[in-house]
Amino acid sequence: MKAIGKVLCATGIVAGLLAFLWKDPFNPESLSGARVLLTGASAGIGEQMAYHYARFGAEIVLTARREAVLQKGVAGQLSPPAGTCEFFGYWLGNGPFVDCFVCLSAGGLDYLLLNHIGVTRFQMWAGDMEYIRWLMQVNFFSYVALATAALPTLEKNKGSLVVVSSLAGKIPTPFTTSYSATKFALDGFFSSLRHELIMQKRNVSVTLCILGLIDTDAALENTRGKVHLTASPAPEAALAIIQGGAMQVQEVFYPWWLQYVCCLWVLFPSDRNQVLQSYFNYSSP
Ligand SMILES: NC(=O)c1ccc[n+]([C@@H]2O[C@H](COP(=O)([O-])OP(=O)(O)OC[C@H]3O[C@@H](n4cnc5c(N)ncnc54)[C@H](OP(=O)(O)O)[C@@H]3O)[C@@H](O)[C@H]2O)c1
Repeated sequence: MKAIGKVLCATGIVAGLLAFLWKDPFNPESLSGARVLLTGASAGIGEQMAYHYARFGAEIVLTARREAVLQKGVAGQLSPPAGTCEFFGYWLGNGPFVDCFVCLSAGGLDYLLLNHIGVTRFQMWAGDMEYIRWLMQVNFFSYVALATAALPTLEKNKGSLVVVSSLAGKIPTPFTTSYSATKFALDGFFSSLRHELIMQKRNVSVTLCILGLIDTDAALENTRGKVHLTASPAPEAALAIIQGGAMQVQEVFYPWWLQYVCCLWVLFPSDRNQVLQSYFNYSSP
């Protein structure tokens, strides 16, 4: 056998052995009976997470503003749900949402999945202060308030706090001024909180999920004709979030290669802006 043939053969054997020995560190059984509160579950990635959790036998409480959509849409698909499923519709932008939440989590909680977002405008900044204040309320302050209310019960159960963020919360991108600001704020707050929980030896993990463009109806509608990017499938994104939360990892990147994009962004500060802008389509009015 020629040398190249031997190398290929050896590589094949090593790859085969690795595939045989490799064990998926995610154990779906760990989610059976887990008590999960999931926000923004009526559509998109949240809806897909609801299906996965139900399949794994978790006891899920789903929230969104459109309770009827939750009841008819998601409930209709969960047939028969492997775990138990309850639905609550409420508005996270203002009002007594924390009181509401305390009632929801009274039975105990293992996972708090913060996923909802307010309506996102994918456009150039035009100075709308009212909008950015409102979006901060929905995308950031409500996350902080819910996490704060959940911490005591999560701590009792050695639970997990899972925060859904975006690449726009690690790398500033055009057309996302307000959205990007809310997602950077999440990274600042929750990564700092993670340090504090570890230093205080409090048993709550914090997982921050950094997602690229995902093929939800809202995201596709927003970005149509404005980006040269391919969207990844929402069911896979949802599973990556759930697995990251279950394994209590600090950061989840989906697709996985986004972590290298973030490294390159830091390593090449002088060339990066032009490359990034080339993925966005803008023709001046
Ligand atoms: N899709 C992407 O390309 C992408 C990329 C990166 C990161 N992400 C992140 O992934 C998460 C989910 O995104 P998505 O695309 O699945 O969003 P989506 O399809 O727009 O769904 C948003 C969910 O939030 C709920 N919601 C909206 N406003 C609310 C409010 N004020 N109070 C409570 N619930 C509210 C919506 O239901 P109701 O209307 O019934 O309330 C819906 O269930 C977000 O955190 C987003 O930033 C998404």
